[in-house]
Amino acid sequence: MRDITRFAVLASGSGSNLQAIIDAIEQEKFPARIVAVLSNKADAFALERAKKHNVPAFFINPKEFKSPQEYDQKVLEKLKEAGADYLVLAGYMRIISSVLVNAFPNRIVNIHPALLPSFGGKGMYGHHVHEAVIAHGCKVAGCTVHFVTEGVDEGPIIAQACVPVQEDDTPETLAKRVLEQEHKIYPQAIRWIAEGKVTVDGRRVRVG
Ligand code: GRF
Repeated sequence: MRDITRFAVLASGSGSNLQAIIDAIEQEKFPARIVAVLSNKADAFALERAKKHNVPAFFINPKEFKSPQEYDQKVLEKLKEAGADYLVLAGYMRIISSVLVNAFPNRIVNIHPALLPSFGGKGMYGHHVHEAVIAHGCKVAGCTVHFVTEGVDEGPIIAQACVPVQEDDTPETLAKRVLEQEHKIYPQAIRWIAEGKVTVDGRRVRVG
């Protein structure tokens, strides 16, 4: 392992988690570098955030590929060029194929806006998650940082944070409260990985 752990980020949207990670690396000076940001959306604001911090940013157009596997081969090529050790999914709205999962075993991390294993899996993304949490009458909600395996939202859990669900919450107000926690635990988990503190033992992740 190199002294500095090299992270590549895949993002499809606003990239506020990407920003939180960039800021934490800059401010806390832990041994991590973001070596590339890749997106499947040409207009993802995450790409602008990357450029602003002199991080190479790439749009890879899904329409130019015949299958998710071919698309991920192209992503993999870029990741190798960038010399990425780890892959960080930050609001990436595509399912990762076995091409990437096999190339980065226990080296892909994701953040999910719910307390897994509840409210995860296919179709559970963005506002769908918060709507489901409110509809179910949950009293707490939260977010989960986990390693990515082939099962959607099923990989070993690295970190979680909880927030209360208020009686007058809408999916938007709840999402905002959860996002504030995401911005804390995602950089924290990246820091633990960069510092070599994270080991995976079956389903369990040990830190320290
Ligand atoms: C977050 O809510 C995250 O949990 C989910 O997608 C959203 C991304 O937000 N996976 P941002 O692009 O980081 O602002």
